[in-house]
Amino acid sequence: MATVTDGVILQVGGLHSTAERGLATYGALRLPSGPQRAAFLAEHGPDVTVAVTGAGMDAELIGALPRLAAVVNLGVGYDAVDVAALKPRGIALSNTPDVLTDCVADLAVGGLIDVLRGLSAGDRFVRRGAWAAGDKAPLRRRVSGARVGILGLGRIGAAIAHRLEAFGCTISYHNRRRVDDVPYAYAASPVELARSVDAVIVVTPGGPGTQALVSAEVIAALGPGGYLVNVARGSVVDQDALVTALVSGALGGAALDVFTDEPHVPEQLFALDNVVLLPHIGSATVETREAMAQLVLRNLERFLADGTLVTPVSL
Ligand code: 8YV
Repeated sequence: MATVTDGVILQVGGLHSTAERGLATYGALRLPSGPQRAAFLAEHGPDVTVAVTGAGMDAELIGALPRLAAVVNLGVGYDAVDVAALKPRGIALSNTPDVLTDCVADLAVGGLIDVLRGLSAGDRFVRRGAWAAGDKAPLRRRVSGARVGILGLGRIGAAIAHRLEAFGCTISYHNRRRVDDVPYAYAASPVELARSVDAVIVVTPGGPGTQALVSAEVIAALGPGGYLVNVARGSVVDQDALVTALVSGALGGAALDVFTDEPHVPEQLFALDNVVLLPHIGSATVETREAMAQLVLRNLERFLADGTLVTPVSL
């Protein structure tokens, strides 16, 4: 009987070098892009049993792999993998939780401090010679003691809240389900959360369930004195409404690590000093990316050994 171990392991998109080296020891094949892709899938697609990806997999690709038994995802977020195409076929999925929690939480707090205190803006101010020329950098907003709303109190949200407690911030949150045993006030909706805080930090999963959860109404509830930090996915925020509010001053500012059409960032934001723009670097440290790659390899190894995953996603 054919088993997963006699199948082909497919690498979809570029991966961390540790993961790529590990995959090479299994003789993994890399899915080509462009015109060779169809011929590659016709030849090898029927033999692929495990796919490893950080770039995502759509329904068409999943459909071209009839023996696919597992998708091993590099990243805690797996919204780029078409879960609806995996489910009916019982294809297993793993992600890389926990190992990136601290780094993403660090970045969220860094983004909050940057946008409230104007770190990036101050750096630009010095570099362009404005300080030397006698200009005054504008006063910004205080971080310590600010009221911060966490949208999505999962592992990363809790790590952000924990850090902000040390800043004397008042934390509240909104989550699909109320979380037991936390000392933070619960807001019944994202709008209610936004109404009651100085800043909202978005840290929900991406995907259809959270599409535009931060709507124009939520942005309006934050208002001209409010700030938005997004380290989740661009899809969670109505980006057009966000850009409009930032350009008009209807929102105080934003720190954004994620966008709806990465790597494209709305150019209207480039000139705004109250907006911090980052190139999706939440987990991008040497230590964390190495740990994510190792976890990918452990998932692969375990799946090939006994058909289970170290960090499965329940579908
Ligand atoms: C990765 C991320 O950079 O883990 C996630 O969900 O957003 C990032 O850590 C991304 O998934 C790249 O594969």
